[in-house]
Amino acid sequence: MTATRIAPELSTRLDSVIADETTTFLHRQQRSKEMSGRATALAGGATSSWQVAEPHAVWLSHGNGSKLYDVDGNEYSDFHGGYGVSLAGHNHPAIVAAVRDRVAKGTHFAQPTEDSIVVADNLAARYHQPLWRFGNSGTESTMDAVHLMRAATGREKIIKLEGGYHGHHDSVMVSVQPESVGDLGPVDSPNGIPENTGLLKATVDGTVIVPANNLPAVEAALARHPGEIAGMILEPIMMNAGIIYPDEGYLSSLKDLLHAHGALLTFDEVKTGFTCGPGGASGLLGASSDLVCVAKAMGGGLSTSAIGGGKVMELVASGDYQQVGTFNGNPLAMAAARAMLTEVLTDDAYANIERLRTRVRDGLQSVIDRHHAPWLVVTAGAKGCVSFMPDRIRNFRDFRSLDGRYGHAHWLVQHNRGAFLPPWGKVEQWLMSVQHTDADVDRFVSSFSYLADQLLGDPA
Ligand SMILES: Cc1ncc(COP(=O)(O)O)c(C=O)c1O
Repeated sequence: MTATRIAPELSTRLDSVIADETTTFLHRQQRSKEMSGRATALAGGATSSWQVAEPHAVWLSHGNGSKLYDVDGNEYSDFHGGYGVSLAGHNHPAIVAAVRDRVAKGTHFAQPTEDSIVVADNLAARYHQPLWRFGNSGTESTMDAVHLMRAATGREKIIKLEGGYHGHHDSVMVSVQPESVGDLGPVDSPNGIPENTGLLKATVDGTVIVPANNLPAVEAALARHPGEIAGMILEPIMMNAGIIYPDEGYLSSLKDLLHAHGALLTFDEVKTGFTCGPGGASGLLGASSDLVCVAKAMGGGLSTSAIGGGKVMELVASGDYQQVGTFNGNPLAMAAARAMLTEVLTDDAYANIERLRTRVRDGLQSVIDRHHAPWLVVTAGAKGCVSFMPDRIRNFRDFRSLDGRYGHAHWLVQHNRGAFLPPWGKVEQWLMSVQHTDADVDRFVSSFSYLADQLLGDPA
């Protein structure tokens, strides 16, 4: 990871904050450490490789409302949100009632239940896309999107953004967080770098990488591969690299450009869906695409996903593209999704989130202003992050230059003071839930203020 040049004194303070906070963390997480030691039959001691984090995984016991509780008995305001899922918060009465009711009536038939009609109608209204199908994870929905763009165009290659994450299937596990500078390639035409072992080279080679917010680079990619590009997948607001907003007009011009070349546009709203607003980032920005993928928050904490669209989804309706899966539209997940979309994500809930977004943004900004810190607060509905840089990040190369120690120090400081951020500090964003309160936000701001004092000195 390359770092922005920071003054030696600040660099030393960052290292010492991380060292001190790590000591505190280890002291507070004794039972978690024991659990990690016990988990010998879990490969790597975790249930997903991205749950492995420094200093070690935090094992949780339960959640309630806006709070999480770890196995050591510590309470946290949940700003992790299970990597973008927990928009309902925990133990939400509407989700509990829906799941309890469904579980007693049978949880799986591999036949549709009425809830799936309600969920599909709700998604159609939110996203202005008439046809929907379900899956079980974000990965499945973006995989279907890639297949569908190929099926609709008869072409094989896709375009994705450098630094964009869309799940772990071969076509999109390319240039997600490429590390080695030597491999990155030119800024305007980055190399496609496999993000994992075990990927099929031919599939990886079929993914063309472009920088975010750069239309000429997309145009050049389309010109380099005439008649070969099926479409492009991107998040309308790019997450997984902090938060990167699109330039004004970028998304609509991108759609026009792709269409002019006979290619399609997919919005991956797995993370931004519902969290950025009732109609996700598409609704927030007034943007539209040929296909939309949603997952994460949709299920109120149960695993489900969906893909929606218009003309392209007719390939599913006609059977020309077989969108399949044993657990698709699983009754338990559909019951939870129905409650989430119709009872939890109400106008009042979004009004509360907007109030909390303003409160956290203003609180953090006042700390930044007090310290004259060269940092930015970036928010999008219930999601947000602090970008420890003075300038707006427009693409992965900008993001890459951000020193990863800031995010790690922030994570540790928040964690040790009762706010649970996602552990991959630099990359991830916070998520607030509909059950968050002013007190959760104020706790977060106060710990941020402590971090700023430690790094930049107390201005008072
Ligand atoms: C934008 C985006 N797309 C797709 C995925 C994959 O979703 P899942 O982990 O449910 O497969 C993620 C997961 O973090 C994501 O952030």
